[in-house]
Amino acid sequence: MLVAANWKMNGSKVANETLIKGVIAGFSDAESVNNDVAICPPFVYIDSVGQLLADSEVRLGAQNVSHLEIGAYTGEVSPSMLKDMACRYVIVGHSERRSLYAEGDQLVAQKFVSVTKQDLIPILCVGELLEEREACDTNDVIARQLDAVIDLAGIENFKNAIIAYEPVWAIGTGKTATPKQAQEVHEFIRLRLARHDVAIANDIRILYGGSVNANNAQDLFSMADIDGGLIGGASLIVDDFLSICKAMR
Ligand code: 13P
Repeated sequence: MLVAANWKMNGSKVANETLIKGVIAGFSDAESVNNDVAICPPFVYIDSVGQLLADSEVRLGAQNVSHLEIGAYTGEVSPSMLKDMACRYVIVGHSERRSLYAEGDQLVAQKFVSVTKQDLIPILCVGELLEEREACDTNDVIARQLDAVIDLAGIENFKNAIIAYEPVWAIGTGKTATPKQAQEVHEFIRLRLARHDVAIANDIRILYGGSVNANNAQDLFSMADIDGGLIGGASLIVDDFLSICKAMR
């Protein structure tokens, strides 16, 4: 399983150091986690956070990336730069990128491809809006978001990829999907991938994200198709993040 922290646009040099030292100290006790843990700080802190994590089991990730490799693209960061900084994971298609920065399915698919070309691990986010859920369109939305990436990247590029189901109505709202609601969509995602490759579908890790906290993580992670979490707000609090990591099966 994997628990990944998405710090979003939070942090400072001092706060990051305190948070990371707390997290690493929490793992150094006897029951250290057998699963994967990652932290995705803002780009500007990638280097310093990477140094703080260097001697730990916690891996480094990024929250976004350019779909392009090099050149005159002011303000962008390429996959090879992230690789250069020893990143392992890259979040692509987070709903905040889709809604606030107008990233469409095609651009998300291009980012996914460019990340896999650098042997980085994409964490592909999919999820429906509240009105889409209320209109019973959840599966159609998820299928559209997934198919765009499968069509461009090819199913073989999902071999090392990770998918995060993040219902938009559950992000930062304190309104978590119930374990049953999440499980239904996770199963749908796995079946959608299985139409192309059963082995890849069975092996892929599908994370749940959206108001995961220390109290609900265990119930969510106990579901058959939930293989960890992508954590926003609760990843900024040492004890909460450690509790969530320790809730992994
Ligand atoms: P919250 O955990 O704050 O709801 O954020 C979830 C998320 O968007 C992680 O990528």
